[in-house]
Amino acid sequence: MDKKVTVIGAGNVGATAAQRLAEKDLCDVVLIDIVEGVPQGKALDLIEAAPVEKHDARIIGTNGYEDSAGSDIVIITAGIPRKPGMSRDDLISTNAGIIKSVTEQAVKQSPEAILIIVSNPLDAMCQVAYQVSGFPKNRVMGMAGVLDSARFRAFISMELNVSVENTHAFVLGGHGDTMVPLPRYSTVAGIPITELLSEERINALVERTRNGGAEIVGLLGTSAYYAPASAAAEMAESILKDKKKILPCAAYLEGEYGIKDLFMGVPVKLGSGGVEEIIEITLAEEERTALMNSANAVQELKNVLKKLGI
Ligand SMILES: NC(=O)c1ccc[n+]([C@@H]2O[C@H](COP(=O)([O-])OP(=O)(O)OC[C@H]3O[C@@H](n4cnc5c(N)ncnc54)[C@H](O)[C@@H]3O)[C@@H](O)[C@H]2O)c1
Repeated sequence: MDKKVTVIGAGNVGATAAQRLAEKDLCDVVLIDIVEGVPQGKALDLIEAAPVEKHDARIIGTNGYEDSAGSDIVIITAGIPRKPGMSRDDLISTNAGIIKSVTEQAVKQSPEAILIIVSNPLDAMCQVAYQVSGFPKNRVMGMAGVLDSARFRAFISMELNVSVENTHAFVLGGHGDTMVPLPRYSTVAGIPITELLSEERINALVERTRNGGAEIVGLLGTSAYYAPASAAAEMAESILKDKKKILPCAAYLEGEYGIKDLFMGVPVKLGSGGVEEIIEITLAEEERTALMNSANAVQELKNVLKKLGI
């Protein structure tokens, strides 16, 4: 393969993302974890699946960073996930230290890479990686909106009994309880769902989307990983193939949407340059208010990072 992606954290999300990338035949994959044996074992298991899955991706599992040298993309999933009763924000002090350490080591080996952050609390962890890496803002982004939108799309398709392929959805804002699903911009075969569903049903789907992560934590005892891995792989694919897909991602805002110096979920164009453009869509008054409310929640996390000395 002529492309290489490093996935840091060989836990549920990281290992599944490695599987998705390899099985989509997108790139060679280096899987890194701090626990000895885990990345090596999972990589070997994936290598042994390759003949059946019919791909030729080279997969390496390791505890060091040397093999990651020259990666095109580094996906960071290292850190602790939440347990029932926890919010994503409860993870901040543990995960900030982990993201700082893994980013430092990864960027030494891959100074030209594009960073996709997955670890929570997402928007704050993007901020840590951005500061520590010193990378330009187009090369640091977070995965949340693609997942939240996929959840919204799944619920829309179940509600209307239509193919998921006909659905499009946009969920903006921070990746937390204040996320902003946008029904007006969510469509089935191009038709806004506001034309197809009652306000009451839309509100129920929006609420389920907002609680999508917690619903799975409640069932599983830990956070979701199949859909998060798919979402991270979709972002990586758009970058590796320079597809220039418009996807909701956490990007560093410098005045767009009236928000400054914060990572927030907004529609971006993803290509070989990373975040190549931030798309500003017109928001209704209440949508704008919800987005500002979400920005305030992310700003509070940024203040916590300052107190932690990051
Ligand atoms: N952005 C999203 O939408 C989204 C969705 C799901 C999960 N997440 C987040 O992703 C993170 C990972 O979730 P998971 O379910 O895979 O957890 P997990 O516990 O299964 O895996 C995390 C892995 O990180 C490793 N790790 C810890 N410290 C490390 C370090 N310093 N260097 C390298 N590896 C290290 C652990 O050993 C573990 O294998 C969590 O923070 C979770 O909240 C985010």
